[in-house]
Amino acid sequence: MIPDSFIEKLKDANDIEQIISSYVSLKRRGGRLMGLCPFHTEKTPSFTVFLDEPHYYCFGCGSGGDVITFIRNIEHLDYIEALRLLAQRAGLSLPEDDFDDRSARQKTRVLEINREAARFFHSRLISESGRPALSYLTGRGLSVKTIKRFGLGYSPPGWEELREHLSGKGFLLEDMAAAELVKRGRNGGYYDMFRGRVMFPIMDLRGNVIGFGGRAMGEDGPKYLNSSDSLVFKKSRNLFALNFAKAAKDDTLILGEGYMDVIAMHQAGFTNAVATLGTSLTEEQARLISQYARRVIIAYDSDGAGQAATKRAINLFAQLDVSVGVAELKGAKDPDEYIKTFGAARFKLLLDSGKSALDFEIARLKQNRDMNTPEDAVAFLRDFCGLMAEVENDLERGVYIANVARELDMDKQGILSTVKAARLKKYTKKRKKETHNLLNAVQDNGRNRENPHKRSPGLVAEDLLLSLLIKNPDAHMKIREELSSDDFANIDNRAIFTVLMQRLGENRPVEPAYLSQELDNAQMSRIGGFLAKSRELSLSPAQAGEYIRAMRAEKDKKTSDEVREMTAEEYRQYIASLQAGKIGRSN
Ligand code: CTP
Ligand code: MN
Repeated sequence: MIPDSFIEKLKDANDIEQIISSYVSLKRRGGRLMGLCPFHTEKTPSFTVFLDEPHYYCFGCGSGGDVITFIRNIEHLDYIEALRLLAQRAGLSLPEDDFDDRSARQKTRVLEINREAARFFHSRLISESGRPALSYLTGRGLSVKTIKRFGLGYSPPGWEELREHLSGKGFLLEDMAAAELVKRGRNGGYYDMFRGRVMFPIMDLRGNVIGFGGRAMGEDGPKYLNSSDSLVFKKSRNLFALNFAKAAKDDTLILGEGYMDVIAMHQAGFTNAVATLGTSLTEEQARLISQYARRVIIAYDSDGAGQAATKRAINLFAQLDVSVGVAELKGAKDPDEYIKTFGAARFKLLLDSGKSALDFEIARLKQNRDMNTPEDAVAFLRDFCGLMAEVENDLERGVYIANVARELDMDKQGILSTVKAARLKKYTKKRKKETHNLLNAVQDNGRNRENPHKRSPGLVAEDLLLSLLIKNPDAHMKIREELSSDDFANIDNRAIFTVLMQRLGENRPVEPAYLSQELDNAQMSRIGGFLAKSRELSLSPAQAGEYIRAMRAEKDKKTSDEVREMTAEEYRQYIASLQAGKIGRSN
């Protein structure tokens, strides 16, 4: 536990306005500061910083919390890491605590183990016993220079050679297992994960080895084996060779499917190639790419699976600010084979010719359709108009429509008006949805799963009661007698209430900054939300009774399912009590 006294020092030394201003440009509006939210894309400011009970809240996306939560969210840190960052800024050091560094220290050891393992695999590759592996790689066209640059290796076929080697270097089995390099067998002993494979080290942006891919050289076992996720490795968040590609200083990245493709591309001079790691592209990887490139060229395998994956990738990029090209690998199954068959110069032409994502989609719509039959042509046109309705750029849309009209030898006016109608419809729908979302966001921070469209009076009362506890801690004695956490319908509110009551009972402070140790980010956002929304209210302790009544009424209200299950007598009584106004009515 970090003591409150330390949080107090930290909070005093890190003024919320100053910290947040170094990330967001803030303008003063009345008693608050406003700016463009760094956690979602917006054009008009809804991100707000409040200086009393220092906290922030975005009325657009519902993220909020104290200064520590802000640092956690913006720097993607865990609680302790965020404290450390703020402490460093203020020239303080974190109180030495047991749990403080334990996982950080294991992370460091896992990285050392990975590095040592990569060295071991590489030395085996160039040793006598690694000859078959080395000739496998050179046989696939890789030069010694490339092999060295990528640090490729060979895992010997025995069951414990790596384990023995690492033990000899003083590493512990526990840490080797945390690195996912050895596994515990049924007899309790540990054995090597990678055996008899060509090894591809996976590096993060700083050049740390975070995991491995291992390719079988024969037909035995799965073709590729990849490290499982570990303390230092998250497949869905990393890209193979991005550590090299980011140095290419090109605003384009080439996205391939596999290790061999990427290495072949780098060797041929395309040092801006990266690959996902044995999974299909994730949203996080797409976002990562968008941070390093304005344009991405997808160079997946030309088979059906590769084409389906291309379509998925196009959709992911469509939501980001990256233009997408597709390399159409005619006559080869993948970039590796394409470069081998046609050479680097032709591969370059292929990349430059830059078929756009739209070309790719249109080609797909034509697949398996015979444009000479009216049925197929009509079906194609219908899909094509749908596709065009999504294109935001007028010029681009015009060019594609003119091309298709020419191709089908028809008047483009018909296509244009169909697309225009579809766009109008889409626009109206989108605007409705935006208005709806905006209204919801203002009413609620989006985490109210009980009723996403309307906050019930009971839930509003819960939020107000919790705000009151934070602003008027003295009210806690009276509230304690009347309420328990079960009285809260929202589960985050239950957790918040429990933490508040515990702290208030011990006479400890309850400003947001003190709460973030015990609550998660979503719960902190909730606090940010209800504090922001209850600012104008006086929230005197006398109001607690009213809030409690509203919560009780909500709890007593029967759901329609419960009403259906009632006996005739129970139903009669329920109706009578409603009429007597004893139970709040839903709205
Ligand atoms: N992959 C995997 N597990 C498998 C097969 C593939 O993790 N059993 C991943 C690997 O990252 C691989 C990529 O998917 O690099 C592409 O697979 P594939 O096209 O089959 O392999 P290639 O990269 O073409 O490998 P090679 O040229 O060595 O056959
Ligand atoms: Mn291949």
